[in-house]
Amino acid sequence: MSKQADVRTIGFIGAGNMPRSIIGGMIRGGYPADKVWASNRSRPKLDALHSDFGIQVTQDNHELVAACDVIVLSVKPQIMQEVCADLKAHSPDITKKLVTTVAAGVPIAKYHAYLGNETRVIRIMPNTPSLVGEGVSGLCADTSVTEADRSYITQVFDYVGLTIWLEEESSIDVLGAVAGSGPAYFFEFMDGLQKAAEALGFDATTARAMVQQTALGAAKMATESELSLEELRKQVTSKGGSTAKGIEAYQEHKLNEISDQAVRAAVARNQEMAKLF
Ligand SMILES: NC(=O)c1ccc[n+]([C@@H]2O[C@H](COP(=O)([O-])OP(=O)(O)OC[C@H]3O[C@@H](n4cnc5c(N)ncnc54)[C@H](OP(=O)(O)O)[C@@H]3O)[C@@H](O)[C@H]2O)c1
Repeated sequence: MSKQADVRTIGFIGAGNMPRSIIGGMIRGGYPADKVWASNRSRPKLDALHSDFGIQVTQDNHELVAACDVIVLSVKPQIMQEVCADLKAHSPDITKKLVTTVAAGVPIAKYHAYLGNETRVIRIMPNTPSLVGEGVSGLCADTSVTEADRSYITQVFDYVGLTIWLEEESSIDVLGAVAGSGPAYFFEFMDGLQKAAEALGFDATTARAMVQQTALGAAKMATESELSLEELRKQVTSKGGSTAKGIEAYQEHKLNEISDQAVRAAVARNQEMAKLF
């Protein structure tokens, strides 16, 4: 049985990696496969989705819109306008559906311009760990979206991780700079630790294994604890001990300032890119 109380028919237009992960999470979570659709330009990804998850598939976006209450636009941002123009021309009913989008950088106002002002739009920014069920999705809705719509879409994205509703659409740029880009920051940091272990005699496989397990363990401790991150850090840093020496080196090089600069730089780039659409 689905853990989801409100089971609407939902369809993903564009069947790349992100929709595949969300669909996989939904089906594993018990969402009925006959209530999930995907459409795609070419056939192979659709065949794989049908055989792996038993969902409904079509190469015709209009067939999908006719069959679904909720649409998730999952094509690349560069072709969003063209895809929406075609939907508006040949599936005018789209204005009565809940339209959600995972495309990076395209503001809600653009969907209203492409599809009509009356369309209920939710913009979602998932991050790549959604591919392994541990994602963060930032969600932002226009004022016509109902509480029931919000609750429905929260449950859908909860299948692939944590959902965070944002009051201001501009916050999506910040969430993108922290959670969207964040995995790359962590990989960079982990790579540095791995290389340090290798420089001191560890082979690459063992160095990587110990770094990634330590990252996983630290993230799990942080997730399960009510203590602040600073407090957790203090708990593994005995005065005068070796960890204190390591932390001192990070503080001397102003690690927190570096993080602040990294996030601000990524926010600025997100804002710049949003102007392209
Ligand atoms: N991947 C991520 O981690 C991530 C994170 C946040 C947001 N997003 C957003 O998710 C969206 C998709 O990203 P992705 O990585 O999944 O890209 P992708 O793998 O390139 O998938 C896009 C899919 O859209 C299909 N397509 C192209 N034109 C179409 C049309 N007219 N009608 C129906 N389907 C069409 C493509 O079909 P073909 O198979 O024929 O090429 C392709 O399968 C993007 O807007 C991106 O910004 C992705």
